[in-house]
Amino acid sequence: MSVSRRVIGSEQVEKASRGGRRYIEVPPGGIVTVQARETAERLDVALRDGPLDRPQTPETDGAAALYRVLYRRSSKWMAPKPPAGRNPLRFRRIAIIGAGGVGGNIAHLAAARDAAGEIVIVDVVPGLAESIALDLNHSSGATRSKCAVSGSADPSASADADVVVVTAGRARSPGMSRADLLAVNRRTIRALGEKIRAASPGAVVIVVSNPLDEMTAEMLWATEFPRERVMGMAGTLDSARFRAELAHAARVGIDEVEAMVIGSHGGEMTPLVSLARIRGMPLDRFLDGEQISGCVERTISAGAKVVELRRTASASIAPAHAALELLDHMRGARVGPVPATVHLRGEFGIEGVPLGVPCLLGPKGLAEVAELTIDASERAKLKSASEAVRARIGS
Ligand code: LAC
Repeated sequence: MSVSRRVIGSEQVEKASRGGRRYIEVPPGGIVTVQARETAERLDVALRDGPLDRPQTPETDGAAALYRVLYRRSSKWMAPKPPAGRNPLRFRRIAIIGAGGVGGNIAHLAAARDAAGEIVIVDVVPGLAESIALDLNHSSGATRSKCAVSGSADPSASADADVVVVTAGRARSPGMSRADLLAVNRRTIRALGEKIRAASPGAVVIVVSNPLDEMTAEMLWATEFPRERVMGMAGTLDSARFRAELAHAARVGIDEVEAMVIGSHGGEMTPLVSLARIRGMPLDRFLDGEQISGCVERTISAGAKVVELRRTASASIAPAHAALELLDHMRGARVGPVPATVHLRGEFGIEGVPLGVPCLLGPKGLAEVAELTIDASERAKLKSASEAVRARIGS
């Protein structure tokens, strides 16, 4: 019987280096070409004789791995798989109000994922929502999505939705903080909230408009819905950015990083360094203090950086993916805690103010706030964020 021996060439070394890997495993009996050795030396990629002991990476999705860290389970604990044959819920009707970059991308992702039977897009700009709906319906010829998309300039078209995603409002211009938008977007959200209350009285509302925490409060007041059915999307976006920064700094794959950002969606956000893990280990095993602070700072200023580069618009792709993350948690396509901005009632020692916290979600919105253990400085930051938001919402 012939045994095929693996040959490692320089191309493979280059590929590993491009992918941020620091070593290549040479299988027993494997052959490394002279060029590969030279390339490995040049690119600082180690050649290690295998088989190598691998860290036990839990085979769970990111949220489940984080859940395991947060609740200090044994390192061998694996998230239970959803029962076999359980399909994620498909919403009957999702309404998206505001068809700018974020709203348009949310509609695109939700339609491509077939997350609802029907998606209704609403925007005051004549023709905008209709044009996106038409474009998405054309796309279904390629994607085979069964979701029917319609667009309108009339908010009443959003009636009877299971979920209403609100992205309407002005976006930031360069140099503007999210709080600068407060006065102008407050009026928009209040008017929309009153319409949603009448038109979709049973809906869950996901607020994406900025300033996020304040607009979530405004929506809660305007709809008079229970807190379970009004949440803000920010923590999933900030957490995605934090994970991307950590993976880049540590030169590891993104799926090897677990991290969550809570608190306010602004200068007072709290990236949870104490709970973040790279390959299941604390950050300081991979990054020094300065690198960690760099990741935290770049996460906090990420949105402003996009605005600064783009000048006329804010980020739209990552926010849309982050909104889909919440929708996926609601419909059971993802499990475990996920950060969402909800009105706190004593959780983390904070009362009567919306703030990003880890939540368990279901089709009817918030199922439970997952009150995890964070360190004292993170708790203090959360508290001061709550005071800043409270001052801005004026209650
Ligand atoms: C951002 C805006 C959407 O963080 O808040 O990019």
